[in-house]
Amino acid sequence: MQPLPRLILATRNAHKTAEIRAMIGDRFEVMDATAFPELPEIAETGTTFLENARLKAEGVSHRVAGWVLSDDSGLEVDALGGAPGVWSSSFGGEEGNHSKNNARLLSEMAGKMDRTARFRCTMVLARDGAEQANFTGNVQGRLVDALHGSGGFGYDPLFIPDGHAQTFAELGDEIKNQLSHRARALEQVIKFLIESD
Ligand code: IMP
Repeated sequence: MQPLPRLILATRNAHKTAEIRAMIGDRFEVMDATAFPELPEIAETGTTFLENARLKAEGVSHRVAGWVLSDDSGLEVDALGGAPGVWSSSFGGEEGNHSKNNARLLSEMAGKMDRTARFRCTMVLARDGAEQANFTGNVQGRLVDALHGSGGFGYDPLFIPDGHAQTFAELGDEIKNQLSHRARALEQVIKFLIESD
Protein backbone atom coordinates (compact mmCIF):
# COMPACT_ATOMS: atom_id res chain seq x y z
CA MET A 1 0.00 0.00 0.00
CA GLN A 2 1.24 3.53 -0.87
CA PRO A 3 1.95 5.69 2.19
CA LEU A 4 -0.52 8.56 2.54
CA PRO A 5 0.78 11.94 1.36
CA ARG A 6 1.72 14.17 4.28
CA LEU A 7 -0.01 17.48 5.00
CA ILE A 8 1.62 19.63 7.67
CA LEU A 9 -0.57 22.21 9.37
CA ALA A 10 1.21 25.43 10.31
CA THR A 11 -0.60 25.66 13.65
CA ARG A 12 -0.32 24.65 17.28
CA ASN A 13 -4.05 25.23 17.81
CA ALA A 14 -5.35 21.75 18.71
CA HIS A 15 -8.94 22.74 17.85
CA LYS A 16 -8.03 23.76 14.30
CA THR A 17 -5.99 20.58 13.85
CA ALA A 18 -8.83 18.38 15.12
CA GLU A 19 -11.38 20.00 12.80
CA ILE A 20 -9.10 19.84 9.75
CA ARG A 21 -8.09 16.24 10.51
CA ALA A 22 -11.76 15.18 10.86
CA MET A 23 -12.66 16.85 7.55
CA ILE A 24 -9.65 15.45 5.63
CA GLY A 25 -10.43 11.87 6.70
CA ASP A 26 -7.92 9.31 5.46
CA ARG A 27 -6.81 11.18 2.33
CA PHE A 28 -3.66 12.63 3.96
CA GLU A 29 -1.53 12.01 6.99
CA VAL A 30 -2.21 15.23 8.91
CA MET A 31 0.47 16.53 11.26
CA ASP A 32 0.76 19.93 12.89
CA ALA A 33 3.56 22.14 14.22
CA THR A 34 3.54 20.33 17.58
CA ALA A 35 5.26 17.41 15.78
CA PHE A 36 8.20 19.72 14.98
CA PRO A 37 9.33 21.25 18.31
CA GLU A 38 12.27 22.96 16.58
CA LEU A 39 9.91 25.21 14.58
CA PRO A 40 9.99 28.79 15.87
CA GLU A 41 6.81 30.63 16.83
CA ILE A 42 5.77 32.72 13.80
CA ALA A 43 4.70 36.28 14.61
CA GLU A 44 1.39 37.18 12.96
CA THR A 45 2.35 40.71 11.96
CA GLY A 46 0.03 40.97 8.94
CA THR A 47 -3.08 43.14 8.79
CA THR A 48 -5.15 40.73 6.69
CA PHE A 49 -6.03 37.04 7.03
CA LEU A 50 -4.13 36.39 3.79
CA GLU A 51 -0.93 38.10 4.98
CA ASN A 52 -0.95 36.14 8.25
CA ALA A 53 -1.80 32.85 6.53
CA ARG A 54 1.12 33.44 4.15
CA LEU A 55 3.55 34.21 6.97
CA LYS A 56 2.61 30.98 8.74
CA ALA A 57 2.59 28.68 5.70
CA GLU A 58 5.84 30.00 4.20
CA GLY A 59 7.54 30.23 7.60
CA VAL A 60 6.96 26.52 8.25
CA SER A 61 7.51 25.49 4.65
CA HIS A 62 11.05 26.96 4.73
CA ARG A 63 11.92 24.38 7.35
CA VAL A 64 9.78 21.30 6.60
CA ALA A 65 9.49 19.24 3.39
CA GLY A 66 6.15 18.58 1.68
CA TRP A 67 2.81 20.36 1.60
CA VAL A 68 2.24 22.90 4.37
CA LEU A 69 -1.22 24.33 5.06
CA SER A 70 -1.97 27.35 7.21
CA ASP A 71 -5.29 28.68 8.48
CA ASP A 72 -5.83 32.28 9.52
CA SER A 73 -9.35 32.91 10.64
CA GLY A 74 -11.56 35.13 12.71
CA LEU A 75 -14.92 36.71 13.34
CA GLU A 76 -16.16 39.90 11.65
CA VAL A 77 -19.02 41.71 13.34
CA ASP A 78 -20.92 44.30 11.29
CA ALA A 79 -21.99 46.44 14.27
CA LEU A 80 -18.30 46.66 15.29
CA GLY A 81 -17.11 47.73 11.84
CA GLY A 82 -15.65 44.28 11.09
CA ALA A 83 -13.85 43.83 14.44
CA PRO A 84 -12.37 41.70 15.89
CA GLY A 85 -11.32 40.39 12.44
CA VAL A 86 -7.63 39.50 12.22
CA TRP A 87 -7.28 40.34 15.91
CA SER A 88 -9.92 37.76 16.96
CA SER A 89 -7.58 35.65 19.06
CA SER A 90 -6.47 38.53 21.31
CA PHE A 91 -9.66 40.62 21.41
CA GLY A 92 -10.05 40.15 25.17
CA GLY A 93 -6.48 41.34 25.84
CA GLU A 94 -4.73 37.99 26.14
CA GLU A 95 -3.70 35.89 23.11
CA GLY A 96 -5.82 32.76 22.76
CA ASN A 97 -7.95 33.37 25.87
CA HIS A 98 -11.39 32.43 24.54
CA SER A 99 -13.35 33.31 27.68
CA LYS A 100 -11.88 36.82 27.79
CA ASN A 101 -12.54 37.21 24.05
CA ASN A 102 -16.18 36.16 24.48
CA ALA A 103 -16.61 38.43 27.51
CA ARG A 104 -15.36 41.44 25.53
CA LEU A 105 -17.57 40.56 22.55
CA LEU A 106 -20.63 40.27 24.79
CA SER A 107 -19.93 43.62 26.40
CA GLU A 108 -19.28 45.42 23.08
CA MET A 109 -22.50 43.96 21.65
CA ALA A 110 -24.70 44.81 24.65
CA GLY A 111 -27.77 46.69 23.40
CA LYS A 112 -26.78 46.45 19.71
CA MET A 113 -29.69 45.61 17.38
CA ASP A 114 -27.59 44.57 14.37
CA ARG A 115 -26.26 41.11 15.35
CA THR A 116 -24.96 40.04 11.93
CA ALA A 117 -21.48 38.52 11.78
CA ARG A 118 -19.40 36.07 9.79
CA PHE A 119 -16.47 33.78 10.33
CA ARG A 120 -13.76 34.00 7.69
CA CYS A 121 -10.97 31.56 7.04
CA THR A 122 -8.07 32.00 4.65
CA MET A 123 -5.84 29.03 3.96
CA VAL A 124 -2.47 29.10 2.22
CA LEU A 125 -0.79 26.03 0.76
CA ALA A 126 3.00 26.28 0.56
CA ARG A 127 5.80 24.06 -0.66
CA ASP A 128 9.57 24.63 -0.70
CA GLY A 129 9.11 27.86 1.24
CA ALA A 130 6.70 29.52 -1.22
CA GLU A 131 2.96 29.96 -1.47
CA GLN A 132 1.37 27.75 -4.14
CA ALA A 133 -2.29 28.76 -3.72
CA ASN A 134 -4.73 30.40 -1.33
CA PHE A 135 -8.39 29.76 -0.54
CA THR A 136 -11.10 31.51 1.47
CA GLY A 137 -14.28 30.29 3.14
CA ASN A 138 -16.96 32.28 4.97
CA VAL A 139 -20.00 31.44 7.02
CA GLN A 140 -22.64 34.08 7.66
CA GLY A 141 -24.67 34.20 10.86
CA ARG A 142 -25.69 36.21 13.93
CA LEU A 143 -24.51 36.70 17.48
CA VAL A 144 -26.53 35.80 20.56
CA ASP A 145 -26.36 37.68 23.86
CA ALA A 146 -25.19 34.85 26.13
CA LEU A 147 -22.95 31.78 25.81
CA HIS A 148 -24.76 28.65 24.57
CA GLY A 149 -23.22 25.18 24.26
CA SER A 150 -19.92 23.55 25.06
CA GLY A 151 -18.65 22.24 21.70
CA GLY A 152 -16.16 23.81 19.30
CA PHE A 153 -13.87 26.63 20.47
CA GLY A 154 -13.41 30.39 20.42
CA TYR A 155 -16.54 32.36 19.61
CA ASP A 156 -18.60 29.23 18.78
CA PRO A 157 -20.92 29.60 21.83
CA LEU A 158 -21.99 33.07 20.59
CA PHE A 159 -22.47 32.40 16.86
CA ILE A 160 -25.57 30.96 15.14
CA PRO A 161 -24.94 30.12 11.48
CA ASP A 162 -27.67 31.15 9.02
CA GLY A 163 -30.30 28.43 8.52
CA HIS A 164 -29.91 27.12 12.08
CA ALA A 165 -31.38 27.94 15.49
CA GLN A 166 -28.42 26.94 17.67
CA THR A 167 -24.86 28.13 18.10
CA PHE A 168 -21.89 26.25 16.60
CA ALA A 169 -21.08 25.14 20.16
CA GLU A 170 -24.55 23.56 20.47
CA LEU A 171 -24.68 22.12 16.94
CA GLY A 172 -21.53 20.05 17.52
CA ASP A 173 -18.52 19.14 15.40
CA GLU A 174 -20.29 17.09 12.76
CA ILE A 175 -22.63 19.90 11.68
CA LYS A 176 -20.00 22.62 12.18
CA ASN A 177 -17.57 20.71 9.97
CA GLN A 178 -20.13 20.61 7.15
CA LEU A 179 -20.77 24.33 6.95
CA SER A 180 -18.02 26.27 8.68
CA HIS A 181 -15.70 28.84 7.10
CA ARG A 182 -12.88 26.29 7.65
CA ALA A 183 -14.85 23.50 5.92
CA ARG A 184 -15.52 25.77 2.93
CA ALA A 185 -11.88 26.75 2.54
CA LEU A 186 -10.66 23.19 3.11
CA GLU A 187 -12.97 21.75 0.46
CA GLN A 188 -11.09 23.86 -2.14
CA VAL A 189 -7.70 22.85 -0.66
CA ILE A 190 -8.53 19.14 -0.99
CA LYS A 191 -9.68 19.59 -4.59
CA PHE A 192 -6.45 21.46 -5.40
CA LEU A 193 -4.25 18.80 -3.77
CA ILE A 194 -6.04 15.93 -5.52
CA GLU A 195 -5.78 17.67 -8.90
CA SER A 196 -2.08 18.51 -8.47
CA ASP A 197 -1.20 14.95 -7.44
P1 IMP B 1 -5.65 32.76 14.35
O1 IMP B 1 -5.08 31.58 15.08
O2 IMP B 1 -4.79 33.96 14.36
O3 IMP B 1 -6.14 32.37 12.99
O4 IMP B 1 -6.91 33.22 15.20
C1 IMP B 1 -8.09 32.54 15.12
C2 IMP B 1 -9.05 33.12 16.16
O5 IMP B 1 -10.30 33.40 15.51
C3 IMP B 1 -9.38 32.08 17.23
O6 IMP B 1 -8.55 32.23 18.35
C4 IMP B 1 -10.83 32.39 17.55
O7 IMP B 1 -10.89 33.49 18.43
C5 IMP B 1 -11.38 32.85 16.21
N1 IMP B 1 -11.90 31.70 15.42
C6 IMP B 1 -11.37 31.22 14.25
N2 IMP B 1 -12.06 30.16 13.83
C7 IMP B 1 -13.02 29.95 14.75
C8 IMP B 1 -14.04 28.97 14.86
O8 IMP B 1 -14.17 28.04 14.05
N3 IMP B 1 -14.85 29.09 15.92
C9 IMP B 1 -14.72 30.08 16.84
N4 IMP B 1 -13.77 31.00 16.82
C10 IMP B 1 -12.91 30.94 15.76
